Amino acid sequence: MERLVLKRKEFMLFQAFIYEHIGISLGEHKIYLVQARLAKRVKQLGLESFGAYYDFLVADKRGGELEYLSSLISTNVTSFFREAKQWEFLKQKLHEILEQRGGKLRIWSAACSSGEEPYSLAMFLKEHLPRDKTYDIKILATDVSSKVLKIATQGIYSHKACNNLDAHYIERYFSSLYHNQEPAYQIDERLKKMVLFREFNLVTGNYDLFKSTAFDIIFCRNVMIYFDKPTQNGLVEKFFSLLNKEGYLFIGSSEALTDMKKGFQSKSASIYQKV
Ligand SMILES: C[S@@+](CC[C@H](N)C(=O)[O-])C[C@H]1O[C@@H](n2cnc3c(N)ncnc32)[C@H](O)[C@@H]1O
Repeated sequence: MERLVLKRKEFMLFQAFIYEHIGISLGEHKIYLVQARLAKRVKQLGLESFGAYYDFLVADKRGGELEYLSSLISTNVTSFFREAKQWEFLKQKLHEILEQRGGKLRIWSAACSSGEEPYSLAMFLKEHLPRDKTYDIKILATDVSSKVLKIATQGIYSHKACNNLDAHYIERYFSSLYHNQEPAYQIDERLKKMVLFREFNLVTGNYDLFKSTAFDIIFCRNVMIYFDKPTQNGLVEKFFSLLNKEGYLFIGSSEALTDMKKGFQSKSASIYQKV
């Protein structure tokens, strides 16, 4: 089969479609990246051109292809306890936050990928909260991709994915099994029960769903980097209104709120507090 070439006109169609439906803003220079990432899918579907794939995408009213496209365009790279300094900060503040909130804690891992981030939160809470007390804690974990959410819900991770976890976390919170003929670890049911996984698009999603929830902590790490300034701005405003007063927003270390942190005070590396 001939090598597929993404024409500029076709690229512009994908650029507009991806921006409107996923929120990801692709500069002109991303034409080769889009070509490389979509070519395999075009061939897999037996289509002859990127234009034909675009028509297929637009005609797919159920949205399955949109989701597939989003997994091709954005990266799902994640890991347990990513950004060590942020966990250190949370450790210092946890008891203060819980005291202020009367033992109730609502956490949202927005763009949770395959679950390492929300399960790190669950393990962190198990480690740092006294066992003889009961708390009312809920962790909501969302992502646009049902593919990663399926992995997250299963909670099965390769040994490589657990490489950076201390051995005692593996002992306490995982069991060993074989998955796809490879040795793997499965996260404990106690932790699974602490996390509610849901599909949610941060850009086009209906935020009315959260009307009755106010969060104390929002993790939105390593996803805003794909969005342009107006989209990031809109998102930060939404997070602001969804947080309780004095609630915290954690973002990725290569991201910054700089000119859009209205009402947020910078507390530490990529951590902001609603004041
Ligand atoms: C690089 S991962 C970050 C995972 C985790 N937050 C971390 O920092 O390790 C980015 C995630 O954002 C998700 N994503 C991309 N666009 C999104 C959107 N519009 N709404 C919700 N999630 C999105 C991707 O599916 C991917 O799982």
